[in-house]
Parts: sequence; structure tokens; C-alpha cells
Amino acid sequence: MEWKNNLTSMLGISYPIVQAPMLGITTPEMVAAVSNAGGLGSLPIGNIDPSTARTQIQKVRELTTKPFAVNVFAYDIPIAPDQSAFDAMQTLLQGVYTRNGLGIAPVDLKTLTFFSYKDLFPVLIEEKVDIVSFTFGIPDSEGISLLKQSNAKLIGTATSLEEAVLLEQRGMDAIVAQGIEAGGHRGTFIAGSLPQIGVMALVPQLADRIKVPVIAAGGIMDGRGVAAGLMLGAAGVQPGSAFLLCNESLATDAHKAAIAAATDTTTRLTRAFSGRWARGLTNTLIAAVEDSNTTILPYPYQDALTQPARKASREQDNPSFVAMWAGQAAGLAKEKTGAADIIQQMIAQAEQLLPSLKGTANTVVAGSQDSHS
Ligand SMILES: Cc1cc2nc3c(=O)[nH]c(=O)nc-3n(C[C@H](O)[C@H](O)[C@H](O)COP(=O)(O)O)c2cc1C
Repeated sequence: MEWKNNLTSMLGISYPIVQAPMLGITTPEMVAAVSNAGGLGSLPIGNIDPSTARTQIQKVRELTTKPFAVNVFAYDIPIAPDQSAFDAMQTLLQGVYTRNGLGIAPVDLKTLTFFSYKDLFPVLIEEKVDIVSFTFGIPDSEGISLLKQSNAKLIGTATSLEEAVLLEQRGMDAIVAQGIEAGGHRGTFIAGSLPQIGVMALVPQLADRIKVPVIAAGGIMDGRGVAAGLMLGAAGVQPGSAFLLCNESLATDAHKAAIAAATDTTTRLTRAFSGRWARGLTNTLIAAVEDSNTTILPYPYQDALTQPARKASREQDNPSFVAMWAGQAAGLAKEKTGAADIIQQMIAQAEQLLPSLKGTANTVVAGSQDSHS
């Protein structure tokens, strides 16, 4: 049985359930398991070097012949912060590390190098990636035309109607509507803004105004969320936190335990780890940075400065310095389950709630864009 609508037809999938790309959590195995179950797995390669990105894409291909998406961070690297601002943040962090018995070598601003998202385009084209999703912004025109010439479908991320309109104007084939509930980084890209609209309010407003399919993201943990997203006018959903505890997740045991213990009020938005707003569980690093008056560096400089502590902390399975991104409903994540089982349970529960979904071949599920002018 499949649910058919404009999104599933465009992407060549059976169910309009997209596993959210989650850098640091998503493995090729997770992506393939979701795609093999009829959903759309998404491989995150944001900020990853082109050679590793290529290897990861090839790994997914070994595990599935089904469509999957590859996710890229589309942003321009800003000029480096002042050395004095960098030193102030470094001094703060080193003090916290020392007090917590974590020996971390200082980071040298002058030796930091970053990959541009544009470095990933040759890999995407050579590897014939069919679906590319973006967050943090709109790729440049050259990149968009290269991918379109290679027949790739493009998915953008919006956290407001204004962003969605811009993404549609620039040729995105579908748009993720990311509500404030969502775990991980906000996809926000209009400078100086931080839209705080929830999924319930955002999705219908986008569905009414945007002609391409809208994909709801934020707080969708099971079939109830899937059905709700479709009822709100989305053509698909993109759950992320629902997969944090699954067997294919890269989260360590202590990280998983912290997520499992999350409650409705445990997560918060912070810039402490990366310099960009993101939602996650609070811990020692977040508290120390937020309680100080030290200026947080712009993304990706703050991100680069906290990277070594995150790596060391992860290796020690001590979540005090790990970025534990999680959505407002992450406490509902199911433990010790395969990613494919999560998809199957979502499908079964949504079908129970919305029996009309079953066998919707050539018909349109609740609220999809075909009904909009
Ligand atoms: C751990 C984690 C990492 C994430 N990393 C990415 C990423 O690399 N790229 C991206 O587009 N979105 C990323 N997101 C955001 C998701 O795409 C999605 O918007 C979010 O998970 C939806 O909210 P939910 O977590 O409540 O399901 C991440 C989310 C989480 C929880």
C-alpha cells in the first residue's frame, strides 16, 4: 500500500515521510533503512569535506536502490571575528574545560579552514544525487542551475512565510516548513530575524500561499504528528527527533539517556555551541556560555571553537559538552527500535487516524496543494 500525492510522485517514494537530516546523528544505515521502508532518508553533509561526503553518499547507495536526499548547509562563510573576541570566548571555554577536568588544546583562529557548500556541488553532480535539501539559506543561482541541469529535485527550508516565498521564487521544488518546536539548528536565513512560529500556525499559512509541496517539520514523533501535518495542509512531514534513539543513530549511550529523560520543557534555543540558533537539551557548555557576558562568535566560528570539546566529550560518553540537539517533543522518541520500524509505526498509526490515506493512488491526501489557487 502506498499514499500517493504530488510530493510522493515528484520524489518517487511511497510515503511522504522524510527522515530529517541530522548531522552527527544520521548514518548511511539510517538513511537507507528509511528509504527501503518507503519514506525518504536524508543524508546530512553540511560542513563535511567533499571526499567524506562522496564516501557517505556511496555508502547509502550500497544499502538502498531507493531515492534518498542529501542535505547541504547553504550559507556564505562570514569574515572572521576579531582576534580579541575569539580570545575572550576561548578563555571562557578553557576555564570551563579545566574546571570540569577536560584537557582541550586551544584552537588557533588563523589555522581554521572551512569548506564552502559550493565545494559540494561537483560531488552532488558526479554522484548523480536525485534530491538535494538545503537549510540555512538559498544556494546561489549557479548552483541551482547546475543541480537542475542534472535533474535533481531541490528542497529548501523556511521558518517563515517570507522565507518560503523567497525559496519558491528561486526554484525550490518543495519547501520544509520548520516550526519553532523543531530540534537542531533553525533554518532561518533572513538576517537579524528569528521567527518563532510553531508548526500548527506555519504550515497552513505556507500551504495557502506556496504552490510547491510543503513539508511540515517540528514535533512530529509518531502517526499522530504525521496525520496532523497532512491535515494542516502539508504534503509531507519531516520528523527528526523521532529517530534520535533508534538503532542506527550515532548518539552515544549517555546522550541517548539524556534524550530519553527529556520532558516537554527541557529543550531550549541557544547559540552557545555554534553561533546559530539551535534547539537542544541544556548542559554544562550551554550554561557556562549563556551565564557569561562573553560575546558568542558568529557561525561557523563558534562552532569550530567548541568542536574539540564536543569530540572529546563524545569519546568519553560524557554529554556535558556534546551538542544534544532535540525538539520539544523529543521525550516521545522510541528506544531500541530500527528506523524502518519507526516509519512503519508512523504509517500504521496515521492510517488508523486517517483511513482515507490507505490506497490513495492518484488521489490527493488531505490538504495537499492541488486544492489551492
Ligand atoms: C540532532 C539534530 C540534528 C539536525 N541536523 C540537521 C541538519 O544537518 N540539516 C538540516 O536541514 N536539519 C537538521 N536538523 C533539523 C531537522 O531537519 C528538522 O527540522 C527537525 O528535526 C524537526 O523537528 P523535530 O526534531 O521536532 O522532529 C537537525 C535536527 C536534530 C534534532
